Amino acid sequence: MPIIGLDLGRHNFRAVELDSQKNKFVLLRYGTYENPKLNLESESKDDMNIYSQAIRDFFDETGFKTANTVVSLPEQQVYMRIIKIPALSDKDLKNSIQFEAEQYIPLPLKEVSISYQKIDVDAFDKNKINVQLVAAKKTTLEKYVQILRQAKLIPKGIEPETLAVGRILGDTEDHPSASIILNIGFSQTLICITYRGFVRFTRSISIGGDTITRAISQSLGFDYSQSEEYKKTYGLDSSQVEGKIFEVIKPLFDSVIQEVKRSKMFFTTHNPNITINRVILSGGTALMPGLFIYMANNLDLEVELANPWKNIEFSDRLASKKDSLLQEGPLFATSAGLALKEV
Ligand SMILES: Nc1ncnc2c1ncn2[C@@H]1O[C@H](COP(=O)(O)OP(=O)(O)OP(=O)(O)O)[C@@H](O)[C@H]1O
Ligand SMILES: [Mg+2]
Repeated sequence: MPIIGLDLGRHNFRAVELDSQKNKFVLLRYGTYENPKLNLESESKDDMNIYSQAIRDFFDETGFKTANTVVSLPEQQVYMRIIKIPALSDKDLKNSIQFEAEQYIPLPLKEVSISYQKIDVDAFDKNKINVQLVAAKKTTLEKYVQILRQAKLIPKGIEPETLAVGRILGDTEDHPSASIILNIGFSQTLICITYRGFVRFTRSISIGGDTITRAISQSLGFDYSQSEEYKKTYGLDSSQVEGKIFEVIKPLFDSVIQEVKRSKMFFTTHNPNITINRVILSGGTALMPGLFIYMANNLDLEVELANPWKNIEFSDRLASKKDSLLQEGPLFATSAGLALKEV
């Protein structure tokens, strides 16, 4: 049954329609649409209507054929923790998870919806297991379900974006290789660490493509769209325009790199048995010129540009789009990861 993964990014909506055919995944359709940039944290019904209508217009314009949709929740609306608890039977785990969750989730439990997944036996204490705990406010989940229904879609799943990118870009149980995924979008950068097919650490930093464009605009006096052009043309290439753009962007990425190093240090201190080998770049800002090299020179890790299509074939209709799909791969990591959840 085809499924759509819908990434409701702050700047862009992105979606892919995937099908599972004879043990392989096939990309049927994909598209991008500009987010109407409303503050969905407000309770405004009008804003929700406009937002739903934008999603509907996006789907009509792209010609998606199914209504079955998996959507991502903004990172700020989710609590994700890995907790270490005594090894229990599945039934006892189910009963005790509410009690455990109370200690980790800073909201009254009756207001949140909790899901969890057993990961593995702890490497150092064989009597304990690691469990991934995910919680979100019920009112937030209801809002997203409502928005999808109003757009005439059928909600098939809803999950934090970090789990979607982890699924599509992270390692697997069969080929374990711990990775840091850096999803650099418009409003933020997500850092997720995956190992053996599970996301085990997440953090978000409020630096994204918009921060960079504003910094160029403020430092060099260009308007926003001109600054956006400069960013996309020169980025972190220090040999261009006397290094002027580079000098503005560099400190922002130095902060991101600092945060990646801190996350890696924190994670490996708590998981000394796990070695992180690589960092994978996704999100729109991952395409910035010079970024890849800058990351490779400043992080003691292999750097990769995200390719969400590794295990996905393109339908015959999309054969002519192959090159641009590969080039734009980093933009579709979230939506492809979401679709894979239910396809
Ligand atoms: N070639 C490029 N070079 C530099 N920046 C780029 C390039 N292409 C896109 N971007 C930037 O990527 C950002 C949009 O990325 P993306 O579509 O991943 O964001 P989003 O998912 O809507 O936002 P968020 O993840 O913060 O909610 C914009 O700031 C845009 O300027
Ligand atoms: Mg995004």
